[in-house]
Amino acid sequence: MSHAEDHEGTRRDFLYYATGGAGAVAVGAAVWPLVNQMNPSADVQALASVRVDVSGIEEGTQLTAKWLGKPVFIRRRTAEEIEAARGVDVSTLPDPFARNANIPDGSPAIDANRALEETGEWLVQMGVCTHLGCVPLGEAGDFGGWFCPCHGSHYDTAGRIRKGPAPENLPVPPAVFDGTELVLG
Ligand code: FES
Repeated sequence: MSHAEDHEGTRRDFLYYATGGAGAVAVGAAVWPLVNQMNPSADVQALASVRVDVSGIEEGTQLTAKWLGKPVFIRRRTAEEIEAARGVDVSTLPDPFARNANIPDGSPAIDANRALEETGEWLVQMGVCTHLGCVPLGEAGDFGGWFCPCHGSHYDTAGRIRKGPAPENLPVPPAVFDGTELVLG
């Protein structure tokens, strides 16, 4: 074998392995969400959890993730949004309960029971209107939170219903931080 052939053989091997490696990564990334969405039966319950990297979410913006086929709003709130949410007298709220899967049922709807951690920076909630299930719009409505245009429900900056036909606050799903990733489910 000449020197040139030898060299080419080495390169071909390298390309083969490199392509194989990239293929494996792509397949892994594509199959997982399909399994999660198309087959949420009991035997894949263990997969009914998603990880979302939230490190790119700027203050005052939100990302909509998908969990169990439904939108989840992950918002990094501004100090003003937190302050507005904390300044509300809970006894005036249409729904007095926190609706937070991470704390006991029946907990009051104070902002600290809605936000994910003590600083109140992160608010994570299902993006499904509790009236008839439309997806509310962010940074909208009379209370600066979310607004559901279907029948006019206004949610505040803690995702609590304040006005309109929706009977309950937007539910907070099971969620926990793992470094810069949020684990839903
Ligand atoms: S579905 Fe949101 S107000 Fe009716």
